[in-house]
Amino acid sequence: MISRGKWGSKVGFILAAAGSAIGLGNIWRFPYITGNNGGALFVLIYIVAIIVLGLPIMLAEFALGRATAKNPVGAFNAIRPGTKWHFTGFLGVITGVMILTFYSVIAGWTLGYCLKCLGGQFKGIVREKAALVFQSFISDSWVQILWLAVFLLLTIYIVSKGISGGLEKYAKVMMPLLFVIMLLLLIRSLTLPGAEKGLQFYLKPDFSKINGRVFLAAMGQAFFSLSLGMGTMLTYGSYLKRKENLVSSAAWVAALDSLIAILAGFIIFPALFSQNMMPDQGPGLVFVILPVIFSQMPGGVWFGFAFFTLLAVAALTSTISLLEVPVAFLIDEKKWPRHKATWLVGMVAFVLAVPSALSGGGVRFFTNLPILHKDFLSLWDKLWGNIALSIGAFLVAIFVGYVWKTANALDEITNNGVKFRLAKCWVLSIKYVCPLLILIVLISQFF
Ligand code: PHE
Repeated sequence: MISRGKWGSKVGFILAAAGSAIGLGNIWRFPYITGNNGGALFVLIYIVAIIVLGLPIMLAEFALGRATAKNPVGAFNAIRPGTKWHFTGFLGVITGVMILTFYSVIAGWTLGYCLKCLGGQFKGIVREKAALVFQSFISDSWVQILWLAVFLLLTIYIVSKGISGGLEKYAKVMMPLLFVIMLLLLIRSLTLPGAEKGLQFYLKPDFSKINGRVFLAAMGQAFFSLSLGMGTMLTYGSYLKRKENLVSSAAWVAALDSLIAILAGFIIFPALFSQNMMPDQGPGLVFVILPVIFSQMPGGVWFGFAFFTLLAVAALTSTISLLEVPVAFLIDEKKWPRHKATWLVGMVAFVLAVPSALSGGGVRFFTNLPILHKDFLSLWDKLWGNIALSIGAFLVAIFVGYVWKTANALDEITNNGVKFRLAKCWVLSIKYVCPLLILIVLISQFF
């Protein structure tokens, strides 16, 4: 039997988990969802969702993973064998593949944009031109399929090698670098004329805009951004040594992840309003506005190139965690060799990703789905990246709260002498707050 890997150190684990969490969810999805949902009020609800729902669920997933040292399906089976609970794990495995499909399309955009920057396409660009460049890029079917394939191949290659030192080593250098470039972009964006209007949109909540949709968007974004609700953090926790502190690890991951998302908003919205652009542009938002910011910076070509390269790496540390879940399942439960599992799931993901790749104008049907009047990628994003993750998180809360029982989970969290001062709050959240809130928000969508 293949031995399951283990993380080398606590820092290695936090970086890997933060690598999974930090990605397109922070820099591409957070600004566009914020823009679509009215700005500051959404941000406020999002932060609350991270604290009252995200953190407790993350801790629950870490505990489940470390206690069982299994993939999501195996973990539920190990604790309650012979029950239907392992379907929760299955849902996670499927959700992982489905998110991987549309996520890789957007990740492909970052690669395409690296080249566009290098080629000087964004020199002196204005917003109308930037929107045109983006539109013609995403509606070019072959180009979309090509970048999708390249990105998936990169992901498959790394996952098939096992999560060894390689990527961790790169990520350790590149993630801080991404942060530095973001700080520079922040300065540029905040000093553009008219930036205040953007800050106002981002920071001053308008409570008259409150509705059920905003809550679902914020909750889904919290789970998506923290990689929760599909067993990613459970799987990462399963490679963890007994002695590590789950509580502080979860806090670190959530803090780093939120920091990057909030920072992305501070870059996007001031620039957006200074260009008199609308915030509710959907998935293309950052790909239109960022080139405009770069064009207004000295050395913008190189900044742009560096930024999109680093964003691609951030996306890569997320796609490998998405692929790792179904792969861990096939290795543990079906005894497949890692190589075979990785290539097979990767190929399936590629085929299933084609509709998303063609939904930016390449094929009319996928671009504007009948009845729904939505593009396929946005539909998948909402269905899997939002609703499926929320259902998954709900099931994790019920399982840990009432089936495995919080006392056993707390044993796992504290059995190495770790002090958990907020244990009571955590129990409250897992047993009552998470299940109730998630249920209410999900059900309210039907009214
Ligand atoms: N959290 C990742 C991001 O923000 C996306 C992701 C979701 C990864 C779910 C794994 C599981 O980019």
